[in-house]
Amino acid sequence: MVGLDRAWSIRDRQRAEWSAVAPGWQRNREKMTAPTSVITEKMLSLAGIRAGHRVLDLACAVGDPAFAIAGLVGPGGYVLGLDLSPEMVEAARELALREGASNAEFRTIESELGLGVPGEDFDVATCRLGLMFMPDPVAALRELRVALKPGGRVVASTWGAPERNPNFSLPMEIIARDAALPPRDPNAPGIFALPNPERLEGLLAEAGFVEVEAFAFETPVVKAKDAESYWYGVSTVAGPLVSLLASLSEEQRRVIREDVVEMIGEMFPEGPVEVSGEAVVAVGTKPL
Ligand SMILES: C[S@@+](CC[C@H](N)C(=O)[O-])C[C@H]1O[C@@H](n2cnc3c(N)ncnc32)[C@H](O)[C@@H]1O
Repeated sequence: MVGLDRAWSIRDRQRAEWSAVAPGWQRNREKMTAPTSVITEKMLSLAGIRAGHRVLDLACAVGDPAFAIAGLVGPGGYVLGLDLSPEMVEAARELALREGASNAEFRTIESELGLGVPGEDFDVATCRLGLMFMPDPVAALRELRVALKPGGRVVASTWGAPERNPNFSLPMEIIARDAALPPRDPNAPGIFALPNPERLEGLLAEAGFVEVEAFAFETPVVKAKDAESYWYGVSTVAGPLVSLLASLSEEQRRVIREDVVEMIGEMFPEGPVEVSGEAVVAVGTKPL
């Protein structure tokens, strides 16, 4: 539980961090979606989504997994993507128009505690790589429970522990070292805040879901042609890192860039950079 003021400042920060990278997400959507499609596939198979279902996707960003869901539910179904960032939502709307996904709708919300949807209206709720950024994940899951029909399912995914996710933790360590940043509070909302199945399972149970199951699995995370393009990707699309870098001096950014490129170059001397990591997924059912 966090206080109200702190909760709003967490949301404001999230909105700013993710809005800043929305153009990069829109431009690079396919390149970013492809390596982590394993996560979406696991989520969708656990969700049991069928043609005609109504699905709520919280923290939708530019539409992963909302667009995959739109394909599964078909023209008789519906998917509603909600996100704090107006820029992400606008990008998702443009993509929906371009892809002719007329059964997908995207809306900006001020808070995950005000979804603006009727109760008991959705068959499935999803939240892919979003829950760990929220001030109170249990409260957010309770809102999803209210929106679900009795017997409806929730499926959420997060990233595993830092030591299992070098794609994010190595650049973060270099930035922290080179910019002499104070250590981060591991329990504060952020990329590694919900790093294991036990934690995610506990949250779903506390939010009132039953038949809860969670597990961790390995997934490709990023593919880049060399260390330079790896850095370009990280410094363009990784929301929390991009805003951290923006707060540093040009000289600090130059040193960090050189250090990350050197380290990645040493790890992948022959060319393509392919980094895997660990994701966690959990499923639960709203009691009848
Ligand atoms: C890592 S992105 C993941 C998004 C997308 N589901 C995906 O898998 O590509 C995290 C998203 O969560 C959104 N977000 C962060 N905090 C949120 C909150 N409290 N309520 C709703 N969305 C939030 C951000 O704006 C951002 O778009």
